Amino acid sequence: MCGIFAYTGEKDAGAILIDGLTSLEYRGYDSAGIYLPDSGCIKAAGPVSELRKKIPGGLKGHSGIAHLRWATHGEPTEENAHPHSGEAGEIWVVHNGIIENFKELKEKLQKAGHTFKSSTDTEVMPHLIEEHMKAEPDFEKATFKALNEIRGTYGMAIQYKNEPDKIIAARMGAPVVIGLGEGENFVASDASPILRHTRQVVYLHDGEVAVLTPTIHSIYTLDALKVERQAEEVDWSTEVAQKGGYEHFMLKEIMEGPEVVENTLRGRLIPEQGLARLGGLERVAGRLGEMERIIIVGCGTAYYAGLTGEYMLEEFSGLPVEVELGSEFRYRKPVLNNRTILLAISQSGETADTLEAIREGKRRGALTLGIVNTVGSTIARETDAGVYNHAGPEIGVASTKALVSQLTALALLTIFLGRQRTMAASEGSEIAAALLALPEKIRMILETREAIEAMAKKYAASRDFLYIGRKYNYSLAFEGALKLKEISYIHAEGCGAGEMKHGPLAMIDENFPTLAIAPQDSVYEKMLSNIQEIKARKGPVIALTTEGNTDIESLTSDILYVPKTIEMLQPILNVVPLQLFAYYFAKEKGLNVDRPRNLAKSVTVE
Ligand code: AGP
Ligand code: GLU
Repeated sequence: MCGIFAYTGEKDAGAILIDGLTSLEYRGYDSAGIYLPDSGCIKAAGPVSELRKKIPGGLKGHSGIAHLRWATHGEPTEENAHPHSGEAGEIWVVHNGIIENFKELKEKLQKAGHTFKSSTDTEVMPHLIEEHMKAEPDFEKATFKALNEIRGTYGMAIQYKNEPDKIIAARMGAPVVIGLGEGENFVASDASPILRHTRQVVYLHDGEVAVLTPTIHSIYTLDALKVERQAEEVDWSTEVAQKGGYEHFMLKEIMEGPEVVENTLRGRLIPEQGLARLGGLERVAGRLGEMERIIIVGCGTAYYAGLTGEYMLEEFSGLPVEVELGSEFRYRKPVLNNRTILLAISQSGETADTLEAIREGKRRGALTLGIVNTVGSTIARETDAGVYNHAGPEIGVASTKALVSQLTALALLTIFLGRQRTMAASEGSEIAAALLALPEKIRMILETREAIEAMAKKYAASRDFLYIGRKYNYSLAFEGALKLKEISYIHAEGCGAGEMKHGPLAMIDENFPTLAIAPQDSVYEKMLSNIQEIKARKGPVIALTTEGNTDIESLTSDILYVPKTIEMLQPILNVVPLQLFAYYFAKEKGLNVDRPRNLAKSVTVE
C-alpha cells in the first residue's frame, strides 16, 4: 500500500503535489518522488521531508504525478522510488500495488532492447506503454493495451511528456479517487489530499480507467467502453479520509483483512500442483532440503503467530519446531547449528529483541529466515532470506492485519517446506484451495461486526477476562487476551484450555468471563468440557465457534460464529472476531484505540 497523487490544472502543481503527499504519509513512507513534464523527476529515499529538501525553490509546471512508496519489490532506495519512466523518459508512472507478471514482462521488454534502472515490478509499466507506442502511437490506446497485459493489483497514474495536460488513472485492487475541481482535476489513493481543493469525487471501480485533463474527466472499462459515473460529495475530514472513513486505523486495518490475505497469497500458490512459490526463499532453496528443525522467534503478536505456525509446520512439514520469545532466546545458550532454520516473524522488522535473536542465531550458524512486513527493514536485511507479508503499513499499535498475513505466510511456508518433504500434492492442493477461499470467509465475518460490537458492549464493564483455546487455537487464547489488554488496559489472560484445572479455574466466578475459542475441530469435545467446567462455577462464557454448531447454545447464549475452513487455517478466521471484540470493547471504554498508553508500534529498544 502506498500513496499516489496526481494533478492537472492551472496552478502550481509541484506545491499541490508535495503538500498532498504529506497527508498520504500514513500509507507508506519509505521513499517519495514527483514528476512534472515541465520540471522532470525528483526522488528521495525516506519521508516526504527528504524530497522537499531537494526542491527548495519549488517546481515549474501545472500538472504532474507524485508517489509515496511502501516497497514490495526492490529495496526502499532512491533508485526504486517512483515515478518510473520508460526508455525515452517520456512515459511516467506511479503505482500502488503489485504487478504479478512483472518478471515475464521485464524479460520480454529486455529482449526488445529496454534497459531497466530499478528492481521494482512497477518499472515494467512505462516500458510496456512505450513498447506499444511503437506500433500504436496514441498514448491512450497504447496505455489501454498495456493495462490489459499486466496482471496483479494497481492504483496507477500515468503521464506522457508530450501530452502534459493529460493524466490517465487506472484501478485494479488498489483504491483510486478522482477529484473534480474547477479547471483542475486530481487523482489520489484516497480523498485526503484532494479535500483541501474539492469535495467532488468519483471513486474508480476495479477494471476502470480514467482519462483526465484540467477540464475533462472520462471513465472507461479496460475494454475502452465509456462509463457514466456520478460525482459524490465527500463530507469527511482529511483525518477520517486517511482512515478510509473508519473511526480508527485499527478498525480500518481489521477491515483490510480480506485484501491482506489476497496480497500475501498473490503469485505464491500453484493450486493444481499443491505448491507454494516463495521467491524470497529461492536463494537458499538448496539449503532448505537439508534442514532438520525450525526455531521460530518473535515478540508479542508475532510470537503468537509463531505458536500457530508451530502446529502447521510440525503437522505438515514433518520438521520439529520450537517457538521462542525474542527477549528470552537472546539470553539463553540455544543449541542450534547449520541444519537449524531460525525463523523471525516481525511486522516492523525492527524489534530489537527479535533482531538480536537473529544475530545470535547467525553467530551459531543457523539459516536465518524472516516473515517481515516492512521491506528493507533491519530484520529483512539481516536474515539470509525471507517472505514479505505485502500487508501494507500497519498504523494501529495493536497488530491486526499483520497477524492475519503472518498466519497466511506461515501456511504458505508450510506448503513450501512440506512439499519438499512429506506433504502429498493432494494435501498441498487442499490447503491452497482453502487459503484462496479465506478472503470471502473473512468478509462474511466482517459483516457480523455489529453483533460483535453488541457483545463487546455487554462485557465492557468487565475487569478481568480469560481466553481459552486448544491446539491450533491455543495461541489465539494468548493473542486474543493481548489484543484486549493492550487497548483496554484490563486484566486479560490467555490459557491453554487443558490447563484450566491446573490453577486458572480458581479465578472463575460470575464476575470473571471467559472467551472460549471452540470451533468444531479435532479438540472440540474437549473444549465443550472446559466450557462446562466454567459454567459449573457460574463463569460467564462467550463461545467462538463455527457456523451451524447449534449444540453449543445449550451452554451459552453468547456465541460468535465464524465460517468453517480446514483446521490448520481456522485460526486465520477465528482471530478476526477476537480483534473486533477487543476493538469495540476498548472503544466502548472511550480509550485511544490506535495509540494505547505506554506502548509503541515498533519496540526498537530492549
Ligand atoms: C501486538 O498487538 C503489539 N503491537 C506487539 O506485541 C507487537 O506484536 C510486537 O511488539 C512485535 O512487533 P513486530 O511484529 O513489529 O516485531
Ligand atoms: N510494488 C511497487 C513497488 O514495490 C509499489 C509498492 C507500493 O504500493 O508502494 O515499488
